[in-house]
Amino acid sequence: MKQTKTQQFPKTKLAWLWENMQGTRGIYIVGMLGTIVYNVLQLTVPYYSGKIVDIFLTGENARENMRTNSDLFYKLLIAMVGFTFLRTIIVYLDCMIYEHVSQTVLYRVRNYLYNKIERQDMTFYSTYRTGDLMTRVTGDLDAVRHMVAWVIRMVIESFSLFGAAAIFFLYINWKMALCLLVISPFVFWIIYLFKNKVAPMHALLREKLAQMNTYAQENISGNRVVKAFAREDYEIQKFDKANKDYAETNKATGMVWLKFYPYVESIANLMPVVMLAVGGVFLIRGQLTMGEYVAFSGLIWAIANPMRQMGNIMNEFQRFSAASQKVMEIYYSEPKIKDAKDAVAHPERFEGKIEFEDVSFQYEDGDLPVLHDINFTVEPNEIVAIMGETGCGKTSLIHLIPRFYEPTKGQIRIDGIPIGKLKLADLRKNIGLATQDVLLYSDTIEGNIAYGDSTINLDEVMKFAKYSAASDFISKMPEGYDTIVGERGVGLSGGQKQRISLARALAVKPSILILDDTTSAVDMETEKQIQQSLRELDFPCTKIIIAQRISTTKAADKILVLQDGYIREAGTHEELLAKKGYYYELVKLQTGAEEL
Ligand code: GTP
Ligand code: MG
Repeated sequence: MKQTKTQQFPKTKLAWLWENMQGTRGIYIVGMLGTIVYNVLQLTVPYYSGKIVDIFLTGENARENMRTNSDLFYKLLIAMVGFTFLRTIIVYLDCMIYEHVSQTVLYRVRNYLYNKIERQDMTFYSTYRTGDLMTRVTGDLDAVRHMVAWVIRMVIESFSLFGAAAIFFLYINWKMALCLLVISPFVFWIIYLFKNKVAPMHALLREKLAQMNTYAQENISGNRVVKAFAREDYEIQKFDKANKDYAETNKATGMVWLKFYPYVESIANLMPVVMLAVGGVFLIRGQLTMGEYVAFSGLIWAIANPMRQMGNIMNEFQRFSAASQKVMEIYYSEPKIKDAKDAVAHPERFEGKIEFEDVSFQYEDGDLPVLHDINFTVEPNEIVAIMGETGCGKTSLIHLIPRFYEPTKGQIRIDGIPIGKLKLADLRKNIGLATQDVLLYSDTIEGNIAYGDSTINLDEVMKFAKYSAASDFISKMPEGYDTIVGERGVGLSGGQKQRISLARALAVKPSILILDDTTSAVDMETEKQIQQSLRELDFPCTKIIIAQRISTTKAADKILVLQDGYIREAGTHEELLAKKGYYYELVKLQTGAEEL
């Protein structure tokens, strides 16, 4: 992971959240108002009980009032029950609103992120680990949802309860109220100190979670390697360490609050004591009625609880802050390789002429250039073979054609148009690529072959399977083309996978076919068959074939020999033999001949 410094975004986290609430903002505001209302309604019970105490229980004319004015007594009781009932209904509806809005936001942002991730370029994928990306669209997004569903609600709840109680206290007896409220600023100060301590913990916690998920993901998808090397115990230990690390960090984060908790709790607990002491004095002096005292003591929790809740809220707020940072990184990320502003549409098929002009290339995260001054031209329908020792830059070179990467220098043209000027979709639609590392999807063989063009029918799928010499083994499978191949093509041999991948590349009837070592795992006889069918395709197609076998390169119209990122030799089989250079030596080596 390279992103260590905190990235700046065009919007603050809360503004970003608000933006993503579009469509549900109105109802969310209703929900927030509902929260205020049901919290203010909490004051009704102590208010009415205070009244009942003053009028019917402790006042001078209490007995008299009960006899003559019992109607009022029942009215007050009914009002208390009524408001409690109303409050319950509001809380219920409010919960539904928060849930609805938070799920809508979650759904929207998750789709948006997935879209972003899908459209990213190769550099993005080599920068971010899969487990980390998975954490962003699951755990991190859930923290964002939690912010909408719970944290904001709790903030409003605490402040409205505190505010309403404070106003109510001031209204009843301002002197008494001030004695109680004077303590509260200390709580805010403590919470502020807490925030500074807990914020980095949440950032760390999130990294640990991503680390743990990455281990799990890598191990599950790469389990064959683990098994082959009998490294299960080692991997289990590695995961155990990551898991422990995460648990410890979680604990440590919880501990931060424990350092501040006693102070906040003491202040909250001080409230009833102050109430008792000061209230007692006020009562004795006759500055407070018994009813008012009951109202105060019945509501003291409305001042103390929000104070207690503050730590929790701040904690969750910091969790949201750390998680949304990660989510927004993807949300605002832009692929470097995208359609140019002046990109031209090219809906029709390419002729298939490819030109490389002084092309050099270096990976963004690499130290040295991988390709140097590459110059060559391929005419439509030609077959070009690229060969060279491992690591010389063959894959890097062909990856420049569909613009997986941008050359650092020079220009690549297709049919005379610089590829940077073409719309990416138009360019890539015209290219059939069978990658070196074959990846099939958990789908039927038919589904895998028709991946690039799902409109083709089974007959066509079978035709392309025949071209790639795959039809024989497919028809021998228990369910033929309906056989489901496992994740990444589990259940198939290396050569079988390569042939399905070739059929998949052919099935889009590309005007440019690129094969990266696609026949390396098939036997000589089958390879010959494939070479033959590639020459007999029923659509025009320029072919670039990376191969090591002379049997493949021999029939090419042109052979490029790469060495350390330079084209060392170029020409036909005969021309290169005559040169007696690298290619000549390679032929000697492969045929076992002393002289040619
Ligand atoms: P084989 O497939 O083994 O025959 O090699 P190749 O000729 O296809 O080599 P490739 O183009 O894959 O790699 C050329 C050089 O680029 C090697 O030195 C690699 O280490 C380097 N390279 C390949 N991929 C990346 C990448 O994603 N990032 C960086 N920084 N370097 C890369
Ligand atoms: Mg390669």
